[in-house]
Amino acid sequence: MTKPNNTIYSQFALVYDLMGADDHSRAMIDYTDSIMSKFHIQSTKRSQPMRGLDLCCGTGTAIELLSERGFAMSGLDQSATMLAMAARKLKGKRIPLYQKTLPKFKLRKTGASSRQASFDFITSFYDSLNYMKTEKQLGYAFQAVGDHLVDNGWFIFDMNTPEALKTVWSANVYADARDEIAWIWRNEYHAKTKSATLRTTFFTKKGTSWERFDETHIEFGYSNTVIRKLLKSAGFKIHGLFKCFTFRPADRETYRICVVAQKR
Ligand SMILES: C[S@@+](CC[C@H](N)C(=O)[O-])C[C@H]1O[C@@H](n2cnc3c(N)ncnc32)[C@H](O)[C@@H]1O
Repeated sequence: MTKPNNTIYSQFALVYDLMGADDHSRAMIDYTDSIMSKFHIQSTKRSQPMRGLDLCCGTGTAIELLSERGFAMSGLDQSATMLAMAARKLKGKRIPLYQKTLPKFKLRKTGASSRQASFDFITSFYDSLNYMKTEKQLGYAFQAVGDHLVDNGWFIFDMNTPEALKTVWSANVYADARDEIAWIWRNEYHAKTKSATLRTTFFTKKGTSWERFDETHIEFGYSNTVIRKLLKSAGFKIHGLFKCFTFRPADRETYRICVVAQKR
């Protein structure tokens, strides 16, 4: 029987790692290593690890890898199920995980202090920021990121471009099957809003039968010009807007960008 669910990443969260969606985090962390060394992103206080926040952290893979590198990490996501998966992965690591919804968010320090939490760097990987529905929302999200960074703090994120949504997400169907899970994704691109709808259907094995669930996701694409403009008005200096996984400037044909920006 179909289980209708309009809350994104409620059930998808349960199969996210199983279908290998967390592989992107691994690739992004290797790339983040090179970004950090290229831009000399390092702690200014020798005895203290840099504090990082992974925005829209999903199942926590990036947090796990960044904490293995010695960073004091926190995570934020809107999905309770994603956060539960992350908490399980990060068990015993004392990593604060916040359930908050972008674009506007406010994080308080954990413990007795009621002061706003601040970080040396904030990351956001995969298509997370493509869930912002309007330019205004994306701008608010950038401002909230800026509010939670120390002066000169870094913001590193990747996003799908409108070109990716138009090409990869146009009238395409993707399907795959593993031993315990199978899925069908039907995509549709809407030129007017530079958005793409992804209708997902998953089947997961339960004993000898299969259970089905559906989720509908909508992603929005933003041009490099808009991203630059919004970051600048949120007080960021842009060090690079790259073709993701390279240090070559993104162009109109790029499918995925990675931005390295610094709060000024
Ligand atoms: C494609 S997943 C990426 C997860 C993780 N960053 C990764 O690289 O695997 C997108 C994530 O963004 C979160 N998300 C989407 N819209 C959000 C919003 N408005 N506020 C907070 N989190 C959001 C989802 O719950 C989901 O965990």
